[in-house]
Amino acid sequence: MSNNEAKIRDREGKAWLYTDVVKEHFFNPKNLLKHGEEKDYKADALGRVGSPACGDEMVLWLKIDKKSERITECKWQTFGCASAIASTSMLSVMVLENGGMTIEEALKIRPQDILARLGGLPARKIHCSVLGDQALRSAINDWFQKTGQPKRTVTV
Ligand code: FES
Repeated sequence: MSNNEAKIRDREGKAWLYTDVVKEHFFNPKNLLKHGEEKDYKADALGRVGSPACGDEMVLWLKIDKKSERITECKWQTFGCASAIASTSMLSVMVLENGGMTIEEALKIRPQDILARLGGLPARKIHCSVLGDQALRSAINDWFQKTGQPKRTVTV
């Protein structure tokens, strides 16, 4: 273990390792919508999901260019843990890279892709990385509904 890795033990005494990338996204979350700002934020789509594993919630807002179907903004809020914060922060960065993913590109993102970019998460925290991914799909479905394309709806 490098000196830069935080080491936390669970109840069974197993170590939880958080990479420097996870810590950076937890302490400095990217594209986070600050508490209270959601009232005035004009998004094109909203996704809201809860985790059956822990009861935490994730809300994600998208701005989407209608013609190109590129995601131009991706904001989020969560009551989730550090791993959910880091995962969703990374997800939002991935979605907005290189001018923004198209809807179809964003739908191809899987939690494994987020984990790879984070350098992994402790095994018992993997479910936290799924929340942002599901909220993204939920928001894209909202956009499909709002733009009269219900047949494009995907499984969240
Ligand atoms: S424990 Fe609930 S999101 Fe991580």
